[in-house]
Amino acid sequence: MCGIVGYIGPRQATPILVNGLRRLEYRGYDSAGVAVWEGGKSRVVRCQGKLQGLVNKLEAEPAPGMVGIGHTRWATHGRPSDINAHPHKVGGVSVVHNGIIENHVHLRQQLEASGSKFSSETDTEIVAHLVAAELSSAKDLTEAVRRALTKVVGAFAIVVMDDAHPDTLVAAKKASPLVVGLGEGENYVASDVTAILDETKEIIFVEEGDIVTVTRQGVSITDPQGKPVERTPTTIRWTAAQAEKDGYRHYMLKEIHEQPRAVADTLAGRIDLENDNVTLDGIVVDTSNIKRIVMVACGTSYHSSLVGKFLIEDFARIPVEVDLASEYRYRDPVVRDTDLVIAISQSGETADTMGAVQLAKERGAKVLAISNVLESSIPRLSDYAFYTHAGPEIGVASTKAFTTQLVSLTLLAIHLGRQTGTLSPERARLLLAELLALPNKMAELIEHGAQLQVIARRYGNSRGFLFMGRGNQYPIALEGALKLKEISYIHAEGYSAGEMKHGPIALIDEELPCVVLVPQGPLYEKTVSNLTEVRAREGKVIAIASRGDKEIGSVSDEVIMIPNTLPELQPILSVVPLQQLSYYVADHKGTDIDQPRNLAKSVTVE
Ligand code: AGP
Repeated sequence: MCGIVGYIGPRQATPILVNGLRRLEYRGYDSAGVAVWEGGKSRVVRCQGKLQGLVNKLEAEPAPGMVGIGHTRWATHGRPSDINAHPHKVGGVSVVHNGIIENHVHLRQQLEASGSKFSSETDTEIVAHLVAAELSSAKDLTEAVRRALTKVVGAFAIVVMDDAHPDTLVAAKKASPLVVGLGEGENYVASDVTAILDETKEIIFVEEGDIVTVTRQGVSITDPQGKPVERTPTTIRWTAAQAEKDGYRHYMLKEIHEQPRAVADTLAGRIDLENDNVTLDGIVVDTSNIKRIVMVACGTSYHSSLVGKFLIEDFARIPVEVDLASEYRYRDPVVRDTDLVIAISQSGETADTMGAVQLAKERGAKVLAISNVLESSIPRLSDYAFYTHAGPEIGVASTKAFTTQLVSLTLLAIHLGRQTGTLSPERARLLLAELLALPNKMAELIEHGAQLQVIARRYGNSRGFLFMGRGNQYPIALEGALKLKEISYIHAEGYSAGEMKHGPIALIDEELPCVVLVPQGPLYEKTVSNLTEVRAREGKVIAIASRGDKEIGSVSDEVIMIPNTLPELQPILSVVPLQQLSYYVADHKGTDIDQPRNLAKSVTVE
């Protein structure tokens, strides 16, 4: 995930910037850079790869000066490289940016048409061009930034410096974190408290729409209209280690809470409301030659593929098969050149998924990768790459990577359905509107997680758990069981609720908690019947149901209400309480949540 640090004061900026960036290294990044001002102009030094590479470059060609900005980049637009690393400089204006500029294609075309020349593939460089253009008529740098930002749609935290205004840094925030650190005759700006905690504990948390002017003497904040606003500083008492997790006890919990933002980022710039369609970052999948889709993946990504099957078959009416990558690659599968193989991998490095992709390609299929890591091996090996924008996931148990995979698959299925003509514009419009509403619904759902803590304590000493669902909730039952076993070490099984009577029902007694996914939808009644079968055998029922369901309470021991959405999108919400339940059960048991035993984040061996 990208990180920002800025400094203005009486000391050399470079060591402060590098130290701040080092504090952010844990978040994952692929390149780093600084811009430091001295003697009338700033010098930009950037380097792909680890921060040490930048430090080596700076040792060879120092960047002295007492004003500067620094950045670690986690690529979203444009591959990891020296030229795509931040800061981006246009004229005298240097910019670092976290987030995604949604209307970057449009803005870039406009700027190029009026003569601007771009030197990188990033969306960020657009901001530098816009500010540079505004500076010719603006009264100061703050005014230029404010005007430039009126043209930008998306999420951002930016910091701007300009060669002609060396006494000022200007920062702005919209839906991406930004903080200001206060010192004596010096001030700081950063994307995260961690980056500047070694320098100051006096922090202003910048709020939505704020534009911050930072000088040596002080900090002034205005709203998007230029009206001054007051923000009260907070004295931070966290340690640096706590700050790395934004105050959360574990990365997994932090990542659960990051999901609304991650989902919004995955949607950003991809929804075309004018045409009731989706733009897939320039990928156009020609459906005329596709007779079948085969999805290959492992673990949690396999579960998202199972949901993807429902979505693609429903919207595009193309038959979909889903296979575990480790099985597919060794079972001599039938592969045709009319197959589209979709490989899903958060890390983009999973050995089995890579093996499956290689095999599919050798046998003539086209491969589309869905991954969270730009330029990782699987997308590089594939014909098309579509990226979830979840940001780096550090906890071994996948959470935000899963929900953004579901969102990506929904976008892909809409795109395919609009191409085949089997998804009407009216239905697509409804789906797109509901997708856009998901981040808020998810945020509200996560905030009500305290109930899960109570349930986790109540059932956390059970020897086993059963998770049940039907239709597109069945893969979520599998995912809930996987999550629980991997971090709490409690045996858990995910089952299709309709399949219970063929065996697993024998397990049910008063000792076995059964988590039943029963949101409103076409299979609601049938799932309620399965739930009552559990109840009739003394099983303890924890129901995940839609808000407003008045019946479910009378047939369940516990009810967790989730917000309403279209049944097709319900899995994106219903998985959240299962993530929280697993987390709180594991916390109750005191296991190593972020690095559970025997597991690795990226499984690069067979
Ligand atoms: C998820 O919680 C697991 N850690 C694991 O199942 C994971 O999803 C699997 O190893 C696949 O990883 P990938 O998505 O990076 O390919």
